[in-house]
Amino acid sequence: MERLIIDTDPGVDDAIAILLAIYSKKINIEAITTVCGNCSLEQATKNALKTLNIGNANHIPVYAGANKPLRNELVVAKVHGDDGLGNTSIPESNKEIEKEYAPDYLVRIAKQYPKEITLAPIGPLTNIAIAVENDPNFAKNIKRLVIMGGAEFGGNSSPVAEFNFWEDPEAAKIVFNAGFDEIVMVGLDATNKVVFSPKLREYLKHINTPIAKFIYDITDHYMYAEQIETKIIGCVIFDALVTGYIIDESILELKDCYVDIATEGICKGQSVVDNDGQYHNGKCNARVAYNAYDKKFFDIFYNTLFEEYHKDIKLILDTEFSN
Ligand code: RIB
Ligand code: CA
Repeated sequence: MERLIIDTDPGVDDAIAILLAIYSKKINIEAITTVCGNCSLEQATKNALKTLNIGNANHIPVYAGANKPLRNELVVAKVHGDDGLGNTSIPESNKEIEKEYAPDYLVRIAKQYPKEITLAPIGPLTNIAIAVENDPNFAKNIKRLVIMGGAEFGGNSSPVAEFNFWEDPEAAKIVFNAGFDEIVMVGLDATNKVVFSPKLREYLKHINTPIAKFIYDITDHYMYAEQIETKIIGCVIFDALVTGYIIDESILELKDCYVDIATEGICKGQSVVDNDGQYHNGKCNARVAYNAYDKKFFDIFYNTLFEEYHKDIKLILDTEFSN
């Protein structure tokens, strides 16, 4: 059982990633820590609580973290809607969040359970960087990081930068230089190969459980918000690939690299990926995902969330991925 902390800025795809983790028999979510990014910290925290409520997981503690990036001003991601969950009127949860500041919680729990906790940052890395700065042993106390962020090629917030690293490049640089035992970087090179198509989404209407309805509703705005820019019919549920990987590592193909982050100028937030550490004397600090298997991911997605529909799911996936 993977002891997992999810650091998140929900966020439509964050909410899906969290639900997948809640329903997986392979994962025990220790806590959710929230960070600003897709929306304000306050809204991200409310959305995390809403997601836990929908997932019947109100036993999971929530810790709020940074309300702005380390240096820059917060720039929210409009693609998630004004409320961060696709402008849906999902009722707020009355669950109380914990009083402890998220970075302090991260340092404390990692020290209490050295090398037992997997940390899945799926928003800007601000909380993680603060924890690194506050405790020189934090990186070594964490078992591994599985990060949604970055890209070897391309970007979605600039021609060369992915949103999470673009939003707080200083934090990303601190994290990749902190000496974590294992960093898996799930960037755009992998996530953009897994598209939640209108057909796959429509199937949720047939399932029509509260979780299916929630995902259908929160992806409505997201589905079409960026199709002009991305020229993709459907949406990329970036963060869900992190949970998918933790459930079944075979959905991604990884390669050893040295990754560093540009923090200034037109390349701000770019993850510079040096394959095999060729320009760093062979030293590598991350395993970068360069490929993803979409059919395998959606098999995990549907069978984890809606396993009672196993037969239909096979038919849907065989049809959708028949070519
Ligand atoms: O670039 C994709 C990332 O930015 C995802 O984490 C998404 O939630 C947004 O935060
Ligand atoms: Ca996110």
